[in-house]
Amino acid sequence: MHFLKRTVTCGELRIHDAGKNVILNGWVHSIRDMGGLIFIDLRDRYGITQLVVSPETQPELADRVKKLKSEFVIWAKGTVRKRESPNPKIPTGLVEVFLEDFGILNSSELPPFEISDKVEINEDNRLRYRYLDLRRPIVQKNFIIRNEIYQIIHKYFHEQKFIEIETPFLTKSTPEGARDFLVPSRLHKGKFYALPQSPQLYKQILMIAGFDRYVQIVKCFRDEDLRSDRQPEFTQIDVEMSFIDREDIISITEGLFVRLWHEILNISIEHPFPRLSYHDALVKYGSDKPDLRYDLEILTLTEHLQGTNFRVFEEAINTGKVIAGINAKGCANFSRKQIDELVEIAQKYGGKGLIWIKNTDGTLNSPIVKFLSERELETIKIHSNLENGDLLLIVVDEWEKCYSILGVLRKEIAKRNGTLDRVKDKFSFLWVVDFPMFEYDSEERRLVAKHHPFTSPVDEDLSILETEPLKVRAKAYDIVVNGEEIGGGSLRNYKHEIQEKIFRLLKLSENDINLKFGFLLEALKYGAPPHGGIAIGLDRLVMTLTGTDNIRDVIAFPKTTSGLALMENCPSAVDEKQLNELGILINT
Ligand code: AMO
Repeated sequence: MHFLKRTVTCGELRIHDAGKNVILNGWVHSIRDMGGLIFIDLRDRYGITQLVVSPETQPELADRVKKLKSEFVIWAKGTVRKRESPNPKIPTGLVEVFLEDFGILNSSELPPFEISDKVEINEDNRLRYRYLDLRRPIVQKNFIIRNEIYQIIHKYFHEQKFIEIETPFLTKSTPEGARDFLVPSRLHKGKFYALPQSPQLYKQILMIAGFDRYVQIVKCFRDEDLRSDRQPEFTQIDVEMSFIDREDIISITEGLFVRLWHEILNISIEHPFPRLSYHDALVKYGSDKPDLRYDLEILTLTEHLQGTNFRVFEEAINTGKVIAGINAKGCANFSRKQIDELVEIAQKYGGKGLIWIKNTDGTLNSPIVKFLSERELETIKIHSNLENGDLLLIVVDEWEKCYSILGVLRKEIAKRNGTLDRVKDKFSFLWVVDFPMFEYDSEERRLVAKHHPFTSPVDEDLSILETEPLKVRAKAYDIVVNGEEIGGGSLRNYKHEIQEKIFRLLKLSENDINLKFGFLLEALKYGAPPHGGIAIGLDRLVMTLTGTDNIRDVIAFPKTTSGLALMENCPSAVDEKQLNELGILINT
């Protein structure tokens, strides 16, 4: 086939190129037959160039051009010239290529949707024909930025003397709180590898091996329920360092963020980033990943309402519950229906209900006003700064539930009263520190690690590790950007005795400890240095830097929320022969 290779891309011709003979290769984006002239927009990754044919002077060429259809792949040869009517919206918009010859390199079926930035396409269709979706400049843009981000990350860590080392995908299961994807072994029937939920133990072993500074941009696999910011396979920037403390990890991470924001967005971000303890994050914002682009703090009222005769409050105070609220500034005009929706949200998150008080023209208005004394109403008003036009939402519940419901309402109010819209171009970075080491899992009826079991307890709390484990704080930290957890890490247990103690507190049997973590405990006995690290969710980072709230926009071939790959159609059944080789019998 006659194929003229391109001399320029579709994105590079400018006015100073006028007069040049060029060859372009690309996809037919659109054809407009204006009678006197025919225009073809030719597209590739770099942009769009207009080709033009004059049917009057080039009748034979025009006839051939008329047979072209959208998404045909062609080569086109011609001369660059200034456009009669320029298009200032595209970089090549001052010129066009007067077509002299072209050839079809491949035809295309009629695409199921238009390859355009302007159309709304059903997401299933986008994923089913992902190669067409990925042709759209608005979609490609995210991957071009993602690539820039990779380059910056590799360079940054290389400058800081980190070593990139690959860790295996066929691994022994390392629990990080989700289920494992298992891979059956053919050579060892009945045995399984697990795809790594993260390279956690390998990176720790690399520290024991003396590599000192490790980094890897690595795929992780977790079989968990999916959401708009979660995928079953996702990418981490995984980091581990030896002979360091928390500040080293924090400063390396902040350095990376400062550089990324500068190089990708040309924004100088202030650092060091603020820090909040887990406790304060929950009490002030109702979340361990609060969005600090706006204030809207939670106000705890319990102590101000001591001695109240209002039954709900009195009972709460007597049973150690919390009374706390959030002042939805300027929302006193919310309708009954809007308030009912907020009540429903509180109930959805396990709350019994929601108490509301409006300040309309200086008068407090609420179903509970009649149960409260003048003094109590005044106290509530002062402590919640309830000014004219404000709406106070009060939750009465157990400590954690009360604050987390208010955290959800905080976000909802910010969305509904326009706060979120006002701050949408801002960035807020935050470290959440001093996490509890354990939490109680009432289903499993045992303690589970809040981060993961390899995290070190805070030194001062070691003495209560066995007596009051729920009070023990961990040397763990999360980095939060605009209310999303972008990364998390910790200093590790490098003393094998402590690591063993923690396994036991998690109710792992001696046998389980040996089977699952024997290799780690053994390695820890051979001179393990103090070490710690962090993993940053790369997909979430790219989402933030590209301004999308859908993780599928930054992963080339993502799964749907039910874990399906719609283009290649998987997961799928396998041959009987394959199952037999693996010794697997399907029990449906
Ligand atoms: P963690 O489990 O907190 O820590 O994960 C680190 C970061 O990875 C991202 N992330 C995800 N992104 C997309 N889809 C998912 N399903 C998903 N799960 C997690 C988040 C999260 O903050 N080994 C530890 C790190 C360490 O201790 O060094 C770990 O994996 O942005």
